[in-house]
Amino acid sequence: MNKLTIEPSGGGVGAFVSGIDLNGKISADDISSVRNALGDHGVLFLRNQKISSEQHIAFAEQFAEININRFFTPVADYPKIAEVRKEPDQKKNIGGGWHTDHSYDTDPAIGSILLALETPPTGGDTIFASMYSAYETLSDGLKETLSRLRATHSSRHVFGPDAPRFKEKDNDIGDRLRNADTATQDAVHPMIIRHPISGRKALFVNPGFTVGIEGWAEKESKALLEMLYEHAKQPEHLYRFQWAPGSIAFWDNRATWHHAVNDYHGERRLMHRVTLRGEALAA
Ligand code: SIN
Repeated sequence: MNKLTIEPSGGGVGAFVSGIDLNGKISADDISSVRNALGDHGVLFLRNQKISSEQHIAFAEQFAEININRFFTPVADYPKIAEVRKEPDQKKNIGGGWHTDHSYDTDPAIGSILLALETPPTGGDTIFASMYSAYETLSDGLKETLSRLRATHSSRHVFGPDAPRFKEKDNDIGDRLRNADTATQDAVHPMIIRHPISGRKALFVNPGFTVGIEGWAEKESKALLEMLYEHAKQPEHLYRFQWAPGSIAFWDNRATWHHAVNDYHGERRLMHRVTLRGEALAA
């Protein structure tokens, strides 16, 4: 039997997992090692996992209940799997900007398990950023200030009826997203959270969904958030993952951001995403 191995990516975030075959039965010890590695490394990469949708769901359910994303169109016959697709004639991709999935929810999702089915010959990478190292490399003074602040996160400006995509003439996201009328609630979270698995502190704001700092004027919020985003995007916090069919990235939303690079126009990219239900976050 293969032994589970976890090897850091060599970049600013993430680790490669080998010695695990999602086609077979996975021991409780291996699930526990994967969970701990997720908490330590923020994102785990697996190669050559040619699995069925049932196996994808079964693997995810060993970590938590599945959170069905209300905005992503699901895979036909698999409501628990969100489809992340871009066709050769489409220009917009899903996730093409820095974000943390589901930070707009009161109980943000743990993370997602994204499986590549079809990938372009080149391009279509996903870049991940570590919110552990983004936090750890701030000054003690700023850490102290941030430890007392909370930020508001929203889905309205991205998925709601007033989202730019409904007004942009060249926006072809179309039916890949849905349920704009359910983008109604906002959530407030500490700007520095203690990670539920690792116990480490992480920066918890993101360019996609954070809309302001509680009790601060818009101009003040924008200035501090922009500064934090510039800091978090520095190369030393990043790892760029290249996909192939059968690759999996299993990321933790509490410890990372991600950005799907949209540089493969004219090619098809098809991924299946299963998202895990999370919990309220504390400082
Ligand atoms: C996402 O943001 O969930 C999609 C990431 C990707 O397609 O690489």
